[in-house]
Amino acid sequence: MIVLLTGGSSGIGAAAARLLAEAGMKVYAGSRRGTVETPMEGIVPVKLDVNDKDSLDKAVAGIIATEGRLDAVICNAGNGIYGPVEFTSEEDARYQMETCFFGTLKTIQACLPVFRRQNSGRIITVTSVMGVLQLPFQTFYSAAKAATLALTDGLAMELKGTGIQCCSILPGDVSTGFTAARRFSACPEGADNPYRAAMDVNLKKIEKDELSGMQPELIGKAILGQLRRRRMAARVTPRIDYKAVGLAVRLLPTRAKIDLISSIYQ
Ligand SMILES: NC(=O)c1ccc[n+]([C@@H]2O[C@H](COP(=O)([O-])OP(=O)(O)OC[C@H]3O[C@@H](n4cnc5c(N)ncnc54)[C@H](OP(=O)(O)O)[C@@H]3O)[C@@H](O)[C@H]2O)c1
Repeated sequence: MIVLLTGGSSGIGAAAARLLAEAGMKVYAGSRRGTVETPMEGIVPVKLDVNDKDSLDKAVAGIIATEGRLDAVICNAGNGIYGPVEFTSEEDARYQMETCFFGTLKTIQACLPVFRRQNSGRIITVTSVMGVLQLPFQTFYSAAKAATLALTDGLAMELKGTGIQCCSILPGDVSTGFTAARRFSACPEGADNPYRAAMDVNLKKIEKDELSGMQPELIGKAILGQLRRRRMAARVTPRIDYKAVGLAVRLLPTRAKIDLISSIYQ
């Protein structure tokens, strides 16, 4: 199987690239750095930026020139910003949507003509449980992931009857470079920022949960599992506790959900 994976230089993408290559797949691992964590046979590093359509088109054209086909794309590149709705600039909010949502869209659009010609292809988006569960000060990250979930589900419907399948993986907390790469909205200081105390307490909790979270290999295994299935699931939430969170969120009235999360986070 020939796979294009974005965000292959670190964390979930790096682990997935390793596992897929070990399983005999050929993985073109794209990122801005264009590096791989574990150089090995079966992983080809590709320099690309999901915000740059030309670099994606070039990567896909290169794969087709070499391999003659593309079997799957894993849209995994992403980042997070942290900050209150009131003070987050439009520029920062757009930065969040740019990579997680539009970057995924651009990646999919670069691959779809090939999948259509082949009448086959697998599209996996790496979203987040935060696409269905919002947390304070990560509202824009949640919005970007919710939009990406909607994109994946809507696309699956549009591709009905073709040989092209879509699936979204919804990880919970994973210990990766995501925590260190997080950006912060520029906020006023002192009494001008009434959110400061809550922001600091929540950030500590969030960082602790991420750094003590799942190993990225667990998400890589979920990706590999879907690539091996004849028919991919529409959504996969790895690990039973995060599955339970996802189910609770679906069953609870929104007011109860907001009250519950507000009692856990400041
Ligand atoms: N860690 C978590 O707790 C968690 C939970 C749920 C979902 N996720 C999602 O999982 C995905 C992978 O994140 P991770 O946790 O593995 O974080 P990570 O270790 O920071 O990896 C992020 C990857 O995305 C790449 N990337 C970022 N911007 C890019 C761009 N514009 N173009 C191409 N590549 C880009 C980075 O490479 P370069 O910097 O070299 O470009 C890196 O390889 C993200 O979509 C994230 O939202 C993470």
